[in-house]
Amino acid sequence: MTKNISPAGFLNIPVPRDLDIKKAISDLRKEKNVIILAHYYQTGEIQDIADFVGDSLALAQWASKTTADVIVLCGVHFMGETAKILCPEKRVFVPDLNAGCSLADSCPADEFEKFIKAHPGHIVISYVNTTAAVKALTDVVVTSTNARQIVESFPPETPIIFGPDRNLGNYINSITGRNMALWDGACHVHEQFSLEKIIKLKKEYPNALLLAHPECKSVILKLADHIGSTASLLKFATNSGNKEFIVATESGILHEMQKKSPDKTFIPAPPNDSTCACNECNFMRLNTMEKLYNCLKYEMPEIFVDEEIRKKAVRPIERMLEISAKLNL
Ligand code: 13P
Ligand code: SF4
Repeated sequence: MTKNISPAGFLNIPVPRDLDIKKAISDLRKEKNVIILAHYYQTGEIQDIADFVGDSLALAQWASKTTADVIVLCGVHFMGETAKILCPEKRVFVPDLNAGCSLADSCPADEFEKFIKAHPGHIVISYVNTTAAVKALTDVVVTSTNARQIVESFPPETPIIFGPDRNLGNYINSITGRNMALWDGACHVHEQFSLEKIIKLKKEYPNALLLAHPECKSVILKLADHIGSTASLLKFATNSGNKEFIVATESGILHEMQKKSPDKTFIPAPPNDSTCACNECNFMRLNTMEKLYNCLKYEMPEIFVDEEIRKKAVRPIERMLEISAKLNL
């Protein structure tokens, strides 16, 4: 570890202009026995250089299984934290530690603890988009790939708290007939999609199917032809005989969709505010090839988790991985 570079200074280290950055990243990865894991919302070039690209569940599954000494998680902070909770003996890095998550931020652990106390006797189910401290208060963690099955693994009359995403929680309530008590949180990217603009697009492309992530508002989900996690949307688009799709999730997923189906047309669903690129997660996009290179070279910025919190947070994540393995997810 380079001791004399501060995390803030680290972000400004220039990369030599004549550097073959792809080769340099690959050389460092081999030399240091690093696995690079990337989420579908990363830039195309980061997805292309990663050892594995996947959704939140797959990233946790790969982290739990890897034999590499070091994990570089190209995603947001909670994803790196989940890897560190599962692999405390490994060093885990995220190229830019400022890559947070508005959904995780919408659920501070002290407030969530009060919410739990106000609902005695409830099972606590938390979405993976949470801090380690919230996971430590949780009975079982879920991702959008397994939320339905994990909720349904409890008897129908079980009282359940679900946090922090109200849109995902409402969606799971609607398809399972449950009445989970929901934390009132949301993701700023998925809340932004414009119903009016999507309806207009559907008129322009009458054959296009609408694919939507369950973090979108219910008005968008009601219109969707397929709802699912990033991996599920990708699988649906790849296997479908249809040729045109409107995609209501972070636009990074279009890279892999287009790669898998070069003959199909993918249209990013437009946000309400057309003056900004609100369908790009500004946190996810903080990671760049230059920061990834510096992260491998200088071995920073590193993720650390308080050991007391980690010991509590690991149980609900492992429970999720066990249930998912039984269900072949
Ligand atoms: P997935 O688990 O579907 O990849 O979702 C992650 C995420 O952050 C969605 O906004
Ligand atoms: Fe968090 Fe939303 Fe970004 Fe996903 S897209 S990481 S939920 S802020």
